[in-house]
Amino acid sequence: MNPSTMSGNRLAGIIGTGPWPSPAYDSLHAAISRVIADGRLPVGTRLPSERELATAIGLSRTTTTRTYGLLREQGFLLTRRGSGSIVRLPNVPGGRIDHLLTPAGADESEIDLTCTAQVASPWLLGAYDRALSQLPAYLPGTGYYPSGLPVLREAIAERFTRRGAPTDPDQILITSGAFGAVAIAVRALLQGSRAHPPDRSSSRRILIESPTYPNAIATLEGAGASLVSYPLEIGEDGHYWDLAAMEQALHRSRIRATYLIPDFHNPTGALLPESARGELAELLQRHSVTPIIDESIVELGLEDAPTPTPLAKFAPNSITAGSTSKIFWGGLRVGWMRLPRHLIDSMAATRLSLDLGAPVLEQLVAAELMRDHDAILPDYLDKLRTGRDILVAQVRTHLPSWDLSVPAGGMALWVRLPEERSGALAIAAREQGLALVAGPNFAPSGGLDGWIRLPYTAAHEQLSQLGPRLAAAWEDALSMEGRIPAGRARIVA
Ligand SMILES: Cc1ncc(COP(=O)(O)O)c(C=O)c1O
Repeated sequence: MNPSTMSGNRLAGIIGTGPWPSPAYDSLHAAISRVIADGRLPVGTRLPSERELATAIGLSRTTTTRTYGLLREQGFLLTRRGSGSIVRLPNVPGGRIDHLLTPAGADESEIDLTCTAQVASPWLLGAYDRALSQLPAYLPGTGYYPSGLPVLREAIAERFTRRGAPTDPDQILITSGAFGAVAIAVRALLQGSRAHPPDRSSSRRILIESPTYPNAIATLEGAGASLVSYPLEIGEDGHYWDLAAMEQALHRSRIRATYLIPDFHNPTGALLPESARGELAELLQRHSVTPIIDESIVELGLEDAPTPTPLAKFAPNSITAGSTSKIFWGGLRVGWMRLPRHLIDSMAATRLSLDLGAPVLEQLVAAELMRDHDAILPDYLDKLRTGRDILVAQVRTHLPSWDLSVPAGGMALWVRLPEERSGALAIAAREQGLALVAGPNFAPSGGLDGWIRLPYTAAHEQLSQLGPRLAAAWEDALSMEGRIPAGRARIVA
């Protein structure tokens, strides 16, 4: 793919035009690396020539040449003869700052806080053993189960039914993780398949919370959605869904579907109260909006409360995505979608255009684990709760100016910084051996540099060392300020 070239003037619009405190190459370097870090200057972009940038920002060519050299040395630029200077990320933890999150691959001395995922459940290997002993029964067949193994579809349907949304196994489609489910849902709604073409007259707009799970931004945009950002409000107890504001957003533009994470929302940890679920469902139905509900985190309540009721109970037309990733192991790559009956055929057809089903052995493993679900979860949640409490104590002790509310569930703290320095913090954290993802990654349409997500899924010993490292990184991030040109940078995308 050919990289897109950014003009000198456009780059100047993002980083500002100075003044550039001396040495100018240093402050220019700080400004450019910062906008790469917070996602405003996307990875893969070709930078303007040194001469063009020099003209646009009123510095000498020698300065821009020196700056590009420094960025190259630090891994922010890849320069090849004939193809210019392409933005990339340093190969270090925390360098992963586009909208596609993948594990950072941190080494042992580094603490990876880029991913909300736990290590595998201790029950996993036993489940693989039992699944392996069941495999021979499947070998005489073709192995193709595009909608999933009946035994797993039954187990998932049964769990929905127990949680209050009566479900038949044929309403369940097994997918490659929850994200496979979301990708199928959005593609079916917006693009359809040969047998089920989309309604051309309907809107491509999808309402999405801000902040939200970064991969959702990439997946929905990749399927051709036009995203309409719906900011979660902030109250005394943290973030919440203001349904009156949602109603206004639905009045303003015709929305086809909405992607929501109502259960221990990633990254805020917010939980849509039971009392608001009926109202939300009714609102979406009134505006003919199809809810795509991501329930990946629904089982991770850390207070003593029942698992939230599926929104599908109140909104029968909703598509619900779920997964084994957060409760058993991300490496299983087994998820599902629960469908309203009228969408089963079109979703199944779209699924076949993407892949032909999930692996049989992993589905057997998932079915085994689902059987032991209620026995597995308590230890898992205890570990997560302890992690959360360690991290809260670390932040409160070492960074008292950071503002956090303790989430009732989920896998991360979403912390408000006293200054908009999240991108700078992610850069400075690398020096402290910490991999962080800056707030703007969670923003569907820019902003959120005043927030940082801190997962508490890392090992407890690592979480216990975090405070001093974070505090040192924060101090560095604040001291970068003087080197960043005055004037607020414009958000371009
Ligand atoms: C809200 C949300 N949805 C989906 C996923 C990914 O789920 P899966 O691994 O099942 O594709 C994550 C992982 O962090 C998540 O936080």
